Amino acid sequence: MAFSEDFLQELASRNDIVDVVGSYVHLTKRSGSNLFGLCPFHSEKTPSFSVAPDKQIYHCFGCGKGGSVISFIMEIENLSFPDAVAFLARRAGMPMPEEEQDTASKKRARMLALNREAARFFHAALKEPSGQPAREYLARRQLTGKTVTNFGLGFAPDTWDSLTRAMKGLGYTEQELFDAGLVRHGKKGGVYDTFRNRLMFPVIDVRGNVIGFSGRILGDGEPKYMNSPETLVFSKSHNLFALNLAKKSKAGYILLAEGNVDVASLHQAGFDSAVASLGTSLTPEQARLLSRYTSEIVIAYDSDGAGQKASQRAIGLLEKLDLRVRVLRMEGAKDPDEYLKRFGADAFRNLLEASENHIDFRLASIRQKYDLAVDEQKVAFLREACDMVAALPDKIKREVYAMRLSETTGISVDAVKDQIAQIRKRKLRAAERQERRDQSRPVLQQQKRTGIRYDNPRSAAAEEGVVRLLCQEPELFQRIEPPDAEWFSSPELKHLYALLLDCMQRGAPVSLAAMSEQLSPEEMNLLTGVIQESDDSSQRSKALADYIQIIRDEAFRRTNEDLREAARLYKKRKAYGDKV
Ligand code: UTP
Ligand code: MN
Repeated sequence: MAFSEDFLQELASRNDIVDVVGSYVHLTKRSGSNLFGLCPFHSEKTPSFSVAPDKQIYHCFGCGKGGSVISFIMEIENLSFPDAVAFLARRAGMPMPEEEQDTASKKRARMLALNREAARFFHAALKEPSGQPAREYLARRQLTGKTVTNFGLGFAPDTWDSLTRAMKGLGYTEQELFDAGLVRHGKKGGVYDTFRNRLMFPVIDVRGNVIGFSGRILGDGEPKYMNSPETLVFSKSHNLFALNLAKKSKAGYILLAEGNVDVASLHQAGFDSAVASLGTSLTPEQARLLSRYTSEIVIAYDSDGAGQKASQRAIGLLEKLDLRVRVLRMEGAKDPDEYLKRFGADAFRNLLEASENHIDFRLASIRQKYDLAVDEQKVAFLREACDMVAALPDKIKREVYAMRLSETTGISVDAVKDQIAQIRKRKLRAAERQERRDQSRPVLQQQKRTGIRYDNPRSAAAEEGVVRLLCQEPELFQRIEPPDAEWFSSPELKHLYALLLDCMQRGAPVSLAAMSEQLSPEEMNLLTGVIQESDDSSQRSKALADYIQIIRDEAFRRTNEDLREAARLYKKRKAYGDKV
């Protein structure tokens, strides 16, 4: 435990959650004292992300994420706990307790230095005689020396220990190599190089740090790519390959491709704003990162089914951030790399200029499924297309596309508009209903979102109540004998309760911010889900008594069942003459 609870409490009180969250999420006032906005952690169209100023927590009714102001910064800025604390301390102009700051940032700095050395090693290996196969592979892919330099490409030699030996020679330990994901533990102890006989793509963040690696096999074989694992400095979902280069581009848009090789080819052909999402489909964090560098994205994913599906998902995420999104439609090639090889850079530039905005793109994909000469299919097409248009937040866009649909189908504009309006009304009503349902069935929703299953829902609901009251009115627990943690049926709630109770009994602040470090993200989500509700404040003492009664009853019932079961076993064994 690095930070004192008092320090964390002070930190949280100087960083009001409404201000902090408000600088990332547009919050509008709604229902009671809570503020609502669109969740930054998952894609949604109606706000289910809530911030409770009185409790200083956030909670999303959609994806279940939640926590204190510190967990919010960890999640949204992709920072470790100590770094998030430092971030908030800076924001509030508070001095950091010195020691922690030093150890945390030293470890990070050392891992980054190690990664940089490793990148240098791989880059140099490409030029060695043993780098011949990699050079041949590059030639086959038509990647030039300039591209190799631009991306800092390299080669991981076909041995088990050349990187390990080189890095040890520079003073790094096996543990440090392991923490950085550069070696793995062998079965018989010892370590071996993670990347062997691969073309190495260093992943470099926007500040120029080498944060990880992606290694492609030379030729065919499995796995095609190996990537650095998640480390102190590397998270795949929060970074984009080549954003360090693309952010300097003057193109005015960012080209989003799937593969590292596509990105290298694109840059080589002059499209210097290409990035790739490191083998995951675009994440909300990556989308947000993109939005810091551009207001327009052109999606150039693979033209196969998977690529098209990934495009749809990316569109949803990017649109939410108010980015202009266009989609490239490549025909005659499976990806940008192949397209460039086959048709050249000029053809690709034409493609870029002709690329459609994403609504056109989606309408065209729907259009492809139907034969409009057949009446039934025309109706089905119109239904699906109107459904898509009805979800557009912008009224003018809905009008424009209503006219477009009317032209395509020969159905009157008014009929199309009516249809869209009807669907939209239905959608809005459904969203409201869903939200009401979500808020009125907390325990069930909790199970669904956090993935935590309660064996005994009756007891668990009461356990949640106890945890909630302990956060909201710890004084209540000083007047009574607090329930025994051992009575709890849910291991997760038991752990939370034990921690909270310990805080209270030590006279430490019972606050989420102060406990941030001791809770896993899942526990944090569970806890905020539980405490975002409120018990009627005039009835709390009575409610607490009821909760405790239920928990105790259920615990005794379980114990009795266990006893009966034990007695049964005992009898059975005796009947067989076993020694017990
Ligand atoms: P692709 O298979 O399309 O690779 O995967 P590519 O980079 O375009 O390579 P070529 O052109 O086929 O040679 C797209 C991205 O998905 C990730 C990599 O980041 C890759 O660039 N990926 C792919 C993995 O992480 N692991 C894999 O096994 C395959
Ligand atoms: Mn590809």
